[in-house]
Amino acid sequence: MHQEIITRFNSLKEKQLSIDITRGKPNKDQLDLSNELLSAPVETKASDGSDIRNYGEPWGISEARELGAALLDSPVKSTIAAEQSSLLLSYQLLLASYLYGINGTAWKDIENPKFICPTPGFDRHFRMLDELGIEMLSVPLMGDGVDVDSLEKLLAQNSDIVGFICVPRHSNPSGDVYSDENLLNIFKICSEYSNDLIFLFDHAYLIHDFPSAPIQTPIWSLAKDSNVLNQTAILTSFSKVTFGGGGLSFFAGGEGTLSLLKKIRTSMIICPDKVNQLRHVNFLKNKDNISRHMAKHAEIIQPKFELTQSILKEIPEECGTYSTPSGGYFITYRTAKPIASRVIELCKEAGILITPAGATYPYGLDPKDSVIRLAPTFVSATELEEAMNIFSLSVQIAHFNIDI
Ligand SMILES: Cc1ncc(COP(=O)(O)O)c(C=O)c1O
Repeated sequence: MHQEIITRFNSLKEKQLSIDITRGKPNKDQLDLSNELLSAPVETKASDGSDIRNYGEPWGISEARELGAALLDSPVKSTIAAEQSSLLLSYQLLLASYLYGINGTAWKDIENPKFICPTPGFDRHFRMLDELGIEMLSVPLMGDGVDVDSLEKLLAQNSDIVGFICVPRHSNPSGDVYSDENLLNIFKICSEYSNDLIFLFDHAYLIHDFPSAPIQTPIWSLAKDSNVLNQTAILTSFSKVTFGGGGLSFFAGGEGTLSLLKKIRTSMIICPDKVNQLRHVNFLKNKDNISRHMAKHAEIIQPKFELTQSILKEIPEECGTYSTPSGGYFITYRTAKPIASRVIELCKEAGILITPAGATYPYGLDPKDSVIRLAPTFVSATELEEAMNIFSLSVQIAHFNIDI
């Protein structure tokens, strides 16, 4: 058996492949779904008569805010439509909290501010927090949200926890869809700990469902019922709806987070790109139409997930386990032994680039060296198959410690 693995790996290596499955980017076919945006004419005025070519409407044109509010189930007055990056909005909120603080306690004046980070998670979240000198405390994800016992323990053991950041639907990279119960528990436990603690929900994959995706009560309404709107921020964008980095971003928050964001944005930007906002509203129209558009994305993405999983299924079970998400952009493979780094190194030797081991943990440190993030969307099905065959062999080579 080992000889066959060696022979197959070496022959694939000889092909000198160069395939990059490091990042969750839309594929060309997905981008083509929105080509109409490239040539659609746009009026010069928004529905309220404001000239979209000029400065003004710092929180976005009303029809874009209405669209964002419909997606986030938030009131229009609590919803901002911004420019092309929700990550930028997240950073702006963190920075405003750092400078001013939600209830007047600026994080910069706290000796050792800390954040709760469900793991595995999104490397850019960790990067932002690290840049602001915020200590990151990991809490494990369980498939339907965080491990509540671990969360309680962390809160009991630590002072100065100032925030909680997560991707509540089709989490990057684990695919967790947080259950309502989990979200309500998080709200309860964390708000009992502090009313100054910010809940930052990066809803990057809010509408990126496969048909089997479970229903989730909107975060806005759960936060409202839990009486934590003041400390809650919910963000999403059209980066993976229309064009990567070329869509719109949205923010919904209660008075506390909303006023922080408005304050920092007033210093940073006079107004967002309203021409792109109107173009997107004309193209996407309303929530129902967006759902139909997203179903077309799913038709392109889901077969790639299935292809990936069909190859992962062939890896002997003792080597590890893999996720079967109901949407989003990632599949995770967890090795049974601490060999994720070795697997990724072997893939690299054979021309397959995978997100570096540890990237899905704060400080780049996966304590078990086990989680591997696979991003199947960007490459063609043929490339994906080649990449996954090499991945499968690499896992086995590392697991069985085969000399090659
Ligand atoms: C969890 C998460 N948040 C944010 C982003 C980036 O979103 P945007 O393009 O709106 O900044 C990504 C992109 O990969 C993501 O996975």
